[in-house]
Amino acid sequence: MKTRTRRLRINDTLRRMARETRLSSDSLIYPLFIRAGNGIEEELQSLPGQTRYGPDTVAKGIDAALRTGVHSFLLFGIPETKDDNGSGAYAENGVIQQALRNIKKIYGDEICLITDVCLCEYTKHGHCGVINGNGIDNDATLPLLSQTALSHARAGSDIVAPSAMMDGTVAAIRDALDAEGFKETPIMSYAAKYASALYGPFRDAAGSAPQFGDRKSYQMDYHNGKEALKRIDIDIAEGADMIIVKPALTSLDIISMASQQIKLPIAGYSVSGEYAMIKAAAASGFIDEYKTMCESAVAVFRAGADILITYFAKELSAAIEKRDIG
Ligand code: PBG
Ligand code: ZN
Repeated sequence: MKTRTRRLRINDTLRRMARETRLSSDSLIYPLFIRAGNGIEEELQSLPGQTRYGPDTVAKGIDAALRTGVHSFLLFGIPETKDDNGSGAYAENGVIQQALRNIKKIYGDEICLITDVCLCEYTKHGHCGVINGNGIDNDATLPLLSQTALSHARAGSDIVAPSAMMDGTVAAIRDALDAEGFKETPIMSYAAKYASALYGPFRDAAGSAPQFGDRKSYQMDYHNGKEALKRIDIDIAEGADMIIVKPALTSLDIISMASQQIKLPIAGYSVSGEYAMIKAAAASGFIDEYKTMCESAVAVFRAGADILITYFAKELSAAIEKRDIG
């Protein structure tokens, strides 16, 4: 036999040298939940191992992550009170705005703070946009998302990440940021976000489950792949600087196709349900948590992602530093 692919698998040193996919702690983003209130530090039932902080305690979560080598964070807020228009999302002294000011004061550019821009955590009905009749009003939602992004930028957000899946969001936010002097604040758009059952644990953690109906009129139908590429193209044309594909593990085909077609960084979001599945299966003794975590993270990068958003960011970063993976 002339060809024996196993020649390059003979030992670990050789395997590592010949590897196609390499991971770096720099490409990991760690999601953090911040709830309005003082001295909050609570374990999340639906996301074992994850903690919900308050604006005054979130530095603890950041410190812990920094110690493992993680420098980038995606922030989600849970307000004191909710209303029909999600006004807590764009309140100048809202939970995320407070947290941003507190954390930026301490860490400056040592960390990158990305803020989720959506209304579902802030609306009583739990939908990502405002309600009109019995539907979600796309266009009436846009000014509220723009105001939210702007208030985040003012409070120190490094990157805004709109996730409401309303058409025209990126253009609306870009205009609003530019008009107020934030021309260089990047937009990381959740361009391809499927209506997925895998967001369950997140909605529990963020208290953002829709109180009626579902998100299928604005999040994408998971039977469609070309539609995801179309949405990515639209967001790029509207001025997106990076794009997110989620859930990651059920959208590896989209990540793969997008990485060959577009010229922007792509982030795969390994969502709460992906994390919970690994945690639960491992807790039942069915799989090895550490190995499954490593394998699924590598798969997202192998598919073509440049960045991975994951609740395992700290553990992965530690694994990378130990030269256990990547
Ligand atoms: C808010 C938002 C959601 C997630 C990220 N941003 C929930 C949803 O769309 O219902 C899900 C993240 C996860 O499951 O980890 N729009
Ligand atoms: Zn939402």
